[in-house]
Amino acid sequence: MAIIDWRQQHGDFFDGGRALVTGGAGFIGSHLSEALIDLGTSVTVIDDLSGGDVENFDTYKDRAGDKLNFVEGSILDAGHLKKLSVGCDYVFHQAALGSVPRSVEQPVLYNEVNTTGTLNVLEAARSAGVKRVMFAASSSAYGDSETLPKIETMPVKAKSPYAANKVACEALMRAYAGSYGLDTASLRYFNIFGPRQNANSAYAAVIAAFASSLIAGEHPVIFGDGEQSRDFTFVDNAVHANLLAARCDKPIGGEVLNVAVGQRVTVNELAEMMAKLLGRPELTPEHKDDRAGDVRHSLADLGLTKNTIGYEPVVGFEQGLEPTVRWYETVTA
Ligand SMILES: NC(=O)c1ccc[n+]([C@@H]2O[C@H](COP(=O)([O-])OP(=O)(O)OC[C@H]3O[C@@H](n4cnc5c(N)ncnc54)[C@H](O)[C@@H]3O)[C@@H](O)[C@H]2O)c1
Repeated sequence: MAIIDWRQQHGDFFDGGRALVTGGAGFIGSHLSEALIDLGTSVTVIDDLSGGDVENFDTYKDRAGDKLNFVEGSILDAGHLKKLSVGCDYVFHQAALGSVPRSVEQPVLYNEVNTTGTLNVLEAARSAGVKRVMFAASSSAYGDSETLPKIETMPVKAKSPYAANKVACEALMRAYAGSYGLDTASLRYFNIFGPRQNANSAYAAVIAAFASSLIAGEHPVIFGDGEQSRDFTFVDNAVHANLLAARCDKPIGGEVLNVAVGQRVTVNELAEMMAKLLGRPELTPEHKDDRAGDVRHSLADLGLTKNTIGYEPVVGFEQGLEPTVRWYETVTA
């Protein structure tokens, strides 16, 4: 399903390895698991299916064979996580509750899963002696400061409980590198999109939500005036950054690294492009009130990520939008 040939990018580095992917039945985790398996690594996925779906393995479970070991379970079960981490080279920690507005409604639950769950992942990785933990951090950590592009040295300004959880976890990643010598990296994802992103949730990410509305013949809903902008990032870029971070031959030491394309697109522009791609240009957006916790603009500086792990985006925004839209058409057909 990837646009990218992972072998060409990563050679035989991952051949014969073992990895744990938390949240691997979710959108990003399932792509990451697929890439690792195609690169010759055996992957254990732990996922409680609260947001993910085993259907996300459908396109590759046959060729994965026994290289894919799916375990239905929660990262809140610390003992289970410890057992699953034994013998793993890398942990890619993707499991989390992901919706900003829902975190505003349920801050205690979010803290439990997103922060305590991450602590459990770190403890398990430490006791298993894994080589490195890659953490799915979030650009929401920057809040709505006016400065663009966002550089990792800027102060964090979490505006929602979800963002606060992610910032706390970044601190934990750094603390485990500092206190226990467990190497870690926090990859701050900027609006990741692509096939398998859930369009059915009431809190669906914007591209998934627009696809769902447009295919149903409905006007896409924009919260606010639509001039808010995002650095929309095709999922292969997030996978690539994780693989590069794992491969890094120097300690990363809990460094926070932006993962994005470095291009800003407004939500109005996005709605127009998607309506055209889906052949429904007459379905212009319907505007509703701003949502609590949403940030106005987002654009990444990628200098540190490039210098630290050699990351540059491998798929551009428009290049990724086309296959994403086609995928939503096939699943809703
Ligand atoms: N998609 C984005 O734009 C984006 C941006 C920034 C950060 N992130 C982070 O990237 C990670 C992956 O996000 P995604 O977009 O693939 O979302 P997703 O919801 O598709 O994936 C998250 C997965 O975690 C699982 N999960 C939730 N609670 C769990 C628990 N207690 N135990 C085990 N598994 C659990 C869910 O079932 C789901 O499969 C998340 O940590 C998210 O916060 C995503």
